[in-house]
This record gives sequence, C-alpha cells and structure tokens, in this order.
Amino acid sequence: MSIYARVEEVKVLGIETSCDETAAAVVEDGTRVISDVVNSQIDIHARYGGVVPEVAARSHIEVINAVIDEAVREAGGWDSIDAIAVTYAPGLIGSLMVGTLAARTLAITKNKPLYPVHHIESHIYANWLGSDVGVSNSVTQEAVAGVTTPASRTQEDATRNDALAPSSVLLGTDVAKPVFPVLALVVSGGHTQLILLRGHGDFEIIGTTRDDAVGEVFDKVAKMIGLPYPGGPSISKAALNGDRTRYKLPKAKLDTPYDFSFSGLKTAVLRAVQAEVGKDFTFPSSELPGLLSEAKRDDFAASFEKTAVDTLVDKLLLAYNAYQPGAVVIAGGVSANQYLRKQITERIPIRVDFPALKYCTDNGAMVASAGYFHTLRLAPTDPYNLEVTPHLKLT
Ligand code: KG4
Ligand code: ZN
Repeated sequence: MSIYARVEEVKVLGIETSCDETAAAVVEDGTRVISDVVNSQIDIHARYGGVVPEVAARSHIEVINAVIDEAVREAGGWDSIDAIAVTYAPGLIGSLMVGTLAARTLAITKNKPLYPVHHIESHIYANWLGSDVGVSNSVTQEAVAGVTTPASRTQEDATRNDALAPSSVLLGTDVAKPVFPVLALVVSGGHTQLILLRGHGDFEIIGTTRDDAVGEVFDKVAKMIGLPYPGGPSISKAALNGDRTRYKLPKAKLDTPYDFSFSGLKTAVLRAVQAEVGKDFTFPSSELPGLLSEAKRDDFAASFEKTAVDTLVDKLLLAYNAYQPGAVVIAGGVSANQYLRKQITERIPIRVDFPALKYCTDNGAMVASAGYFHTLRLAPTDPYNLEVTPHLKLT
C-alpha cells in the first residue's frame, strides 16, 4: 500500500547506521528537516586510526534507541510520523543490521510503512534538504576543517556565483530542488561515482572508481603524513598552510573517460614522502611521519588535495559537457571539502548548490528525504523480511 495520497506534509523518520554515525532525523516532504540527531563515533575510532567494524556495531547498539527517541520526540512524537526509512545497503554488515533491526521493529510496533534506502541514493538526496525547522541537538561531524556549519544551504550559497543560470527551482519559501536530469558527483569514504538521475529513482552510473574511493585515499594519505583520522578534514586544514604546487603528483589516465583511479596517486604520495626524508620502500611507513617537518607535511596535504580535487572536477566537467544536465549536485563526506566546492563553483558553467556541511557526512535527514520520494512511487517493504546487503550497487 502506498501513502501516495498524502503528498503534503508527509513526515518520514530516517535512520542511518551504515558506518560510524548513529543517526535519526525527521524530514517533512523530503525537504524540511524537523529534527536531526547524529551520534558520531569519530572519537572512538580515532584512537585506532580508522573504523573498527565490531566496535562500530556495538556502539550503534548502545545509542540507537536514544538517538531515535530524541529525533521522534523533537518532531512531535510517533503520531506525527507517517513512514520510516532506513539504510539497508551498502555498508558494514553489523552496523547496517542494528539500524534495520530497529527500523523493522518500530515499523511493526508503531504500525508505520517501512522504506529501505540505498546509502548512495540518500547521500544524493542531501541536496533536496532545505533549511532546518527548529533543529536542535545535531551532534554532527563538526570535524570539517576550518569551516563553520551553516544552518541551511541558503546561507551557504554565498560561495557560489549568483550571476550564473540557476540549476534549481524554488518550492515553498526556501527549499530549492535540483532540476532533472541531475548529474551527481558522489564522493565518500566508500564510493566515487558520477551518476545521472533522469528522475526520482531513475539512476545511471556513468563513471566509478576502479580501485580506492577518494575519501578512503584522503584517510590513507593523512595517515601516511601523520595527520589524525578522519583524514579528509585533517588534510583540508593542513592544506590551508601548504604549497599546492610543491609536489607534482600524477592524475590517472583511463580509457573510460568518466571512471576514476586513485591508488596510483596514493602510491605516488608514499614514494614522494620516502624520497623527501631519504628512505626507500623498506623503511616502515608508520615511521615516516616522524621524519617530516610540519611545513613539508602541509605541502604534501596541499599538493595531494589539489591533485585529487582536480581529478574529480576534470571528470565532472567532462560529464557535464557530454550530458548537459539541468543541475549538478555533489554528495558524500568529501563534498564537505571547501577546495572541491571552490573548484566546482569556478569550473562548472551552471550554478551549483551544495548540501549544508552537516548533511554531507552520514546523517538521518538524507535517508528520510530519499525515503519520502520512495513513498511517492513505491510500495513499502515487508518489515518481517528486510535484509541488509553490505555490497550493493545503486542501479
Ligand atoms: O559519506 P561519509 O560520511 O561516509 C561514507 O559513506 O563513506 O564519508 C566519509 C569520508 C571520509 O573518508 C572522510 O575523510 C571524508 O568523507 N571527508 C572529507 C572531508 N570531510 C569528510 N574529505 C575531504 N575533505 C573534507 N572536508
Ligand atoms: Zn556515507
């Protein structure tokens, strides 16, 4: 049964536990965020230098009920919730299981329709989120280096060139929605993809990484040069003091124009660090950061960030020219990167709106938004039969 008839003011509870954030949010009509609660595990995993799956799952179990309770309470209680959306794929299996089990149980006990959502799809839908309505307790990853988290995308628009043709239409007071066909650059810890959306639910992956995801490479390069986890924000912060042209690093050349490859860049940074400190590949890489001066570390961060970002924007521009989309959006944790935003704003010939920084990394609001658009065209899933799928392509 669809809740298609209730197209106005449908409130969806979104639950996200695919990696290391336990998050729940309530979003109205896929665009207005009513409540948004995120419990980040960054501090827990930072001491291991990366996410430990078993620790992540246990931590989700400890806080999931409190996170959901808070999001629902702030939105006015269970009576006001029309549907539940939950991330079921892809991600860490133990983490996904905690979120989906909570969502299935609540769908049954509270008698709400349940909508499973793909994690990449939800990241893209962060671009449909408008301004917050009375949001509090957003324990988001404020780790985004050197930037404050604006309350809404509207405020953040100061960074873009308003003279360019708009790629979004205003609906209601302050909610801008991208115009189809939408070209999405998805850049997270697990994915690097160019996706064309011809409409809601109509996706075509036109490019993908052949090896490492760009966020993963930010994390690995950070470790290599002695910057703390998570690497993305640490690299951005260090890069602000560095020379982006100090080290010449390679961009992968591939015969498929919209695909990416970042493992060569990662190895090139390692070799350049070894050369800089006068050691070869036999030297333990964990000891390399101790031999790098702060200035050189900053130069490596800046040179790496420039090469990674230029690669992303080169491909995005190529796809933009070929597909001539109505809008360009950017999604996933790396979309918080300010240098990437600046390059996109300068090089893409239409106006690009970016998600608010707190909706770039994992959160429940993006899941609720994607879930809302499912309610308009799909039947809910059977809560007794929903399974998680740790590895699943968005098709
Ligand atoms: O989307 P996300 O929260 O989780 C996944 O679905 O993977 O993305 C996490 C990734 C991490 O690799 C993190 O280093 C990266 O996003 N990230 C950034 C920035 N903030 C987070 N990368 C570059 N610059 C940033 N400011
Ligand atoms: Zn994510």
